Amino acid sequence: MSSSGLPSPFDLSKQMRKLDALPVFSASIRDVLNTIDSSQSSFEQIASLIQKDPALSLHVLRSANSLLSTFEGKVTGILHAVRILGLVPLRGVVVSRILLDKARRHPGVSELWYHSQAVSVICTVIGRYMNSRKLEELQTIGLLHDIGKFFFYDEYSEYYEQEFQLGDSGRAEPDWLRERDVFGIDHCLLGDRVVRNFRLPRILFEPILLHHDPSKSVEFPELAHTCSVADGIARAFGSGVPEYVFVEPEFTGSLDVLGLGTNDLRNLLPEVLHRLSAVEILLP
Ligand SMILES: [Fe+2]
Ligand SMILES: [Fe+2]
Repeated sequence: MSSSGLPSPFDLSKQMRKLDALPVFSASIRDVLNTIDSSQSSFEQIASLIQKDPALSLHVLRSANSLLSTFEGKVTGILHAVRILGLVPLRGVVVSRILLDKARRHPGVSELWYHSQAVSVICTVIGRYMNSRKLEELQTIGLLHDIGKFFFYDEYSEYYEQEFQLGDSGRAEPDWLRERDVFGIDHCLLGDRVVRNFRLPRILFEPILLHHDPSKSVEFPELAHTCSVADGIARAFGSGVPEYVFVEPEFTGSLDVLGLGTNDLRNLLPEVLHRLSAVEILLP
């Protein structure tokens, strides 16, 4: 930390190297990730490996219920959870467990986890409404879109405690712009780095990188704009990130790109409210 209490560029580059080294995680989680990666693996093999780790089992089960129970019914077992999540979201859930374990003691992390799940659910609602063929990807993008924030909350918790108190003040500016001012980098770029380091599918990179600036998306604009709209709806319903609670002006532009008008929002919002009722508030 510099004398101002804020990180210096040197601190940040050190921290970034730490991020590239990946957080420490157990051999059982490593086995699960490797098995998900292997094209030879069956759902049964993946489920039985997850079951060897009670904490991971609980996280997978709770996440599956939180994200999908209002769409698919109650999820009662790990094999069922693995099947209905699908491999891409399952990998996202396991990666989120690793980062939650590292950051869970810090303020703001439980609100961030709730926000992440809410955006995932809203991405799914919008994706279904638009008959998207990328539902699993949308669900995962929603869950991981703010994953870079875990790094900031973990490394600079004292700074964030003050920011959270300013979250509903008139002087607040969008979190990602403030991060650029303070740290020289934002959570979008960090999130992109996390998903690359964990070898998540390439289709997730650009929407996570550009979820606050989706008009720059070249490869997957529909996914980036959907995440941006889902993020805005989550904030409007009071489940934003703790340091910035407002809906950003780009929200309406993303609605236009997706072709969603007032009538569509009338259809979508009650559905979103219903689906959010199942989202877990407590940290797993
Ligand atoms: Fe964000
Ligand atoms: Fe967000």
